[in-house]
Amino acid sequence: MNYTINSNSVENVNCDCLILPVFSKGILSGEARELDTSSRKAISQLIKSGDFSGKLGQTSMLYNPAGMTAQRLLLVGAGERKKFNGRSAAKLLNSAAVAVTKLQVADVHIALADVLPTDRNAAWLTAYVAQSMEQAMYCYDTTKSKKNKPPTLSNISLSGPDRTPRKRLEEELGKGRAIGKAINRARQLGNLPGNICTPDFLASEAQTLATQHNSLRTKVLSEKQMARMGMGSLLSVSAGSAEEAKLIIIEHKGPKAKSQPYVLVGKGITFDTGGISLKSGAAMDEMKFDMCGAASVLAVMECVAELALPINVIGMVAAAENMPGGRATKPGDVVTSLSGKTIEILNTDAEGRLVLCDALTYAERFKPRTIIDIATLTGAAVATFGSHANVLLSNNDQLARTLLNCGEESLDRAWQLPLWDEYQSLLNSNFADIANIGGPRAGTITAACFLSRFTEKQKWAHLDIAGSAWHSGLKKGATGRPVGLLMQYLLSRRA
Ligand code: BES
Ligand code: MN
Ligand code: ZN
Repeated sequence: MNYTINSNSVENVNCDCLILPVFSKGILSGEARELDTSSRKAISQLIKSGDFSGKLGQTSMLYNPAGMTAQRLLLVGAGERKKFNGRSAAKLLNSAAVAVTKLQVADVHIALADVLPTDRNAAWLTAYVAQSMEQAMYCYDTTKSKKNKPPTLSNISLSGPDRTPRKRLEEELGKGRAIGKAINRARQLGNLPGNICTPDFLASEAQTLATQHNSLRTKVLSEKQMARMGMGSLLSVSAGSAEEAKLIIIEHKGPKAKSQPYVLVGKGITFDTGGISLKSGAAMDEMKFDMCGAASVLAVMECVAELALPINVIGMVAAAENMPGGRATKPGDVVTSLSGKTIEILNTDAEGRLVLCDALTYAERFKPRTIIDIATLTGAAVATFGSHANVLLSNNDQLARTLLNCGEESLDRAWQLPLWDEYQSLLNSNFADIANIGGPRAGTITAACFLSRFTEKQKWAHLDIAGSAWHSGLKKGATGRPVGLLMQYLLSRRA
């Protein structure tokens, strides 16, 4: 998709469809007033008819409207003027995108010159237009024999919001487009079935990234290499599987080679049966999404390279398949992690933390400025937060606050849970240094407590995305979260 700024007055914009936000209670933006006048009151008449109220997200189409060059005029409800914030803008843009992608149109213009959200600036809105358009264009068809028709939509222009230099707005369009594409890439990897998206598949995707972007280098550790290093915890998860586990490391180098890197670690369980602690059958197919943390890391690394961020970033993926089998790890088995700590595996379904702990220990060698792991870690996170929040736990309050703010800014929100010492004793074991489960209570917190034992020397945050990473039910599919949050974080860092 091609995005441009077009500062012609709206009635003269040449396009197949002109998208016009309209507030409720008949409040018209400057551009809406211009078009109402030139169309001899077509807009105010439609509102008067009662068919279109301007309710947030409502749409209404006028064909061949008088007094403008555009062939179609799509009115999109913006809701109450006073309540129009970043979240409303997102909803408006999504409705517009859904409506417009159903049409046989190539060129679309969005009249956003003076509908700024109360809590955002023009730069944000401009980037978000491109991001949400990209997101709306995604549709999975890889494993369907009938492929989607290629979209007709190819050019989207925007009225330049007031007083922001055009160059700046064009940069924002590029940024939003890259983030939207990254979100789609994470969705695509998440949606692929477990028989295609294996640890080996993730490794070759990472290798391909490095061939496509000069700033990226990829290294993949085999099981043999991991065994030699002493990653007994990670390897205990893949023991029952025919698929070989992989530890994937992607490095992005900015201009300052020696600057300390930001490190991301993704949980990449390409399918989670639970292992010997087998899950029940209901919705088990959704455990193909147990690599969504890994997907977000791969997508972010590509986006970081594409936008040539001036910082060093290292993305790691701990990829394995969790299966029962003759060689599978059993409850009660004790393994030795890379850190030297021994772990009693009381439940083989608590496998995410077992792959992550060795990856987090490995990451120490990079002397990270901060380290963030992203994982579909606990059912308890879904039970507590449903699908709306990324759940954040951290051993550093400043890092936590920064990430919470990035979540608000990107509309990919996070909510923090406590990581108090009092919870740590739930992980005591009679037979090892630590148990891999903390019992039935406070499951999201005890999972983070487990990880915290392996990040004591680091500024670390953990994002449990078990609720946010995919939709269940009719809309079943990966969401691409928390790519938006992570990109917001990295875009606001300095080298
Ligand atoms: N991948 C699951 C977490 C999960 C479950 C995410 C359901 C989304 C929906 C994870 O590996 C897991 O099985 N966690 C267990 C941990 C328990 C055994 C301590 C859980 O949450 O039930
Ligand atoms: Mn599990
Ligand atoms: Zn899992």
